[in-house]
Amino acid sequence: MTQLTSQERVAQLHQQINQYNHEYYVLDQPTVPDVEYDRLMRELIELEQQHPALKTLDSPSQKVGGEALKAFTQVTHQLPMLSLDNVFSEDEWQAFIKRIQERLGSSKALAFCAEPKLDGLAVSLRYEHGVLVQAATRGDGSVGENITENIRTIKSIPLKLRDSQVPEVLEVRGEVFMPKASFETLNQQAKQKGDKPFANPRNAAAGSLRQLDSKITAKRNLAFYAYSVGFVGDLAGNQQDQWLANSHYQRLEQLKTLGLPMCPEVKLLADQNQCQRFYQDILNRRDDLSYEIDGTVLKVDDIAAQQQLGFVARAPRWAMAYKFPAQEELTVLEDVEFQVGRTGAITPVARLKPVFVGGVTVSNATLHNQDEIARLAIKIGDTVIIRRAGDVIPQVVSVVADRRPVSAQEVVFPTECPVCQSPVKKREDEAVVRCTGGLVCQAQRKEAIKHFASRKALDVDGLGDKLVEQLVDENMIGTPADLFKLTATELSTLERMGQKSADKLVNALVAAKQTTLAKFIYALGIREVGEATASNLAQHFLALDKIQAATIEQLQKVDDVGEVVAKNIVDFFNAQNNVEVVTDLLAQGIHWPEIEVKSADQQPLTDLTYVLTGTLSQLSRNDAKARLQALGAKVSGSVSAKTHYLVAGEKAGSKLAKAQDLGVAVLTEDDLIALLAEHE
Ligand code: IVH
Repeated sequence: MTQLTSQERVAQLHQQINQYNHEYYVLDQPTVPDVEYDRLMRELIELEQQHPALKTLDSPSQKVGGEALKAFTQVTHQLPMLSLDNVFSEDEWQAFIKRIQERLGSSKALAFCAEPKLDGLAVSLRYEHGVLVQAATRGDGSVGENITENIRTIKSIPLKLRDSQVPEVLEVRGEVFMPKASFETLNQQAKQKGDKPFANPRNAAAGSLRQLDSKITAKRNLAFYAYSVGFVGDLAGNQQDQWLANSHYQRLEQLKTLGLPMCPEVKLLADQNQCQRFYQDILNRRDDLSYEIDGTVLKVDDIAAQQQLGFVARAPRWAMAYKFPAQEELTVLEDVEFQVGRTGAITPVARLKPVFVGGVTVSNATLHNQDEIARLAIKIGDTVIIRRAGDVIPQVVSVVADRRPVSAQEVVFPTECPVCQSPVKKREDEAVVRCTGGLVCQAQRKEAIKHFASRKALDVDGLGDKLVEQLVDENMIGTPADLFKLTATELSTLERMGQKSADKLVNALVAAKQTTLAKFIYALGIREVGEATASNLAQHFLALDKIQAATIEQLQKVDDVGEVVAKNIVDFFNAQNNVEVVTDLLAQGIHWPEIEVKSADQQPLTDLTYVLTGTLSQLSRNDAKARLQALGAKVSGSVSAKTHYLVAGEKAGSKLAKAQDLGVAVLTEDDLIALLAEHE
């Protein structure tokens, strides 16, 4: 690549940033993640600092947001709406503290108002004589859009303040956002209607606020938290700050008493050293919050100190956004490989140029199936956006189309299994392509045995994935039943396996023979028969031979078993090789206790559906689930209109919000314990 001059690079950055601004603010359809935007902006600001002559009035560094849409009238903010500077690490945070202390000429403890950084849109609400008269977006910081009608539809924003003892004019600033649960519902509805879903709750909030028809906004379930004040004074424009407390935190409390919503996570920290802990605590609980956040905002609490510190161009010197590691990043798709799973499903896996995202280095991401590849229109060599949120496996979000190299190559789906070369097949009702090799396929064999030995199945202690692969590769085992024929002498011939570990494994295999019918059925790895279905099958039929002999109609009488699952079960037991494996397993001595039949009065919770969420402190989630099931209840993983009770432990998040949305009854852990005690 030829080296650009600074002038050329600045021009290129202007063009790129303007384009991304337009996509983000006007179209609500960003094509690159925020980190890339921030990086380009930082580079531009640095270049402008090095070469002040290149800093022109029309530089995107000179303005914070996007142009106001033509259709809304414009509002000039009486006081500008500022932005925040960012830090991403403890070192940067400490450097910030040091700068503040130097400016204040003191290293005394500094109290901070600590807040989550809400991921929505900044708005300014103007109350005159306590009545909401105008609401505006931030726009470019000095001029925003008049969105009063839309703001009025947000249920938590008071149209009239609760106390009349307020200055003539009070501007409240805060964030409008869409709670996670509302976002999910909205996107589900969009999908049903065939509309394009929103990329994230922030875009959904932005799209909802930009509606010219406020009736649409009203249906969107937006929320608001106040985080500062703007102009406070009289109608003539004289500022009257004496009404306000001299602590930022107390100012928020003042707003709260006026009826404005304040984020419940906001805390007053006595000194700067507590900020790091606050950041870490909020980061740990991020997934459990009912709204999206992308960091914390830490503000010097003392207003006099704030005034002494003042502002730089577009941000206060007394506040800082301490952001979480980006959840989206750019990288390059270097190759696509195909993995064969337990049921033969062939999954395309993206091999990526390693990239640090969501706090870890990611070099693989699933591409799910052929439909997903078509949806992404992805080619090898493309620059892609990768997302890793919480513990969710990394996903390819989209392709950055304008960065496609000429050498980009099509992704070709294999027509035969990459492991056993058997033909592949796609059922019409499924998106997945499968290897037809069954247990002939080494890959399926390995996965089937791993599943069989896994914790929720037969739970063979010490038999890890690597060892299973080794055993299959060495042809020492071909089916799960072969595991029980292994001797310690044989095992000790394996690489990295001593006599002691070999003995231990053989003992673990003997111990694993004692199991339950539910676990055994689950361990067989019948397609779509998970733990819950396996347990329902066991409860219903009580014996393995009854399940083996059941017809599709009989199977469908079991909870959770629909036509597809019933057919999978029948198909499984119709295959001769599966029956042989089952017979062999029983011959090896696998056994389980008989299931006690409970009478109806021992199952008082029949027909009731429970969902468990949050952390339970007195019993484990599995235990709670098993005990509820033993009383006849159904325990489901997600909240819906069919849920009867949500048991919410500590730090319950979006499920709790959804339950509240749907009016589902919520129980505490203590309520649950009382319920169990009553019936057991
Ligand atoms: S204070 C003078 N507090 O972050 C300080 N902003 O990057 C102005 N934001 O435009 C902002 N949560 O949209 C503040 N607790 C919080 C915030 C917050 C989210 C947003 C806000 C602002 C942007 C700046």
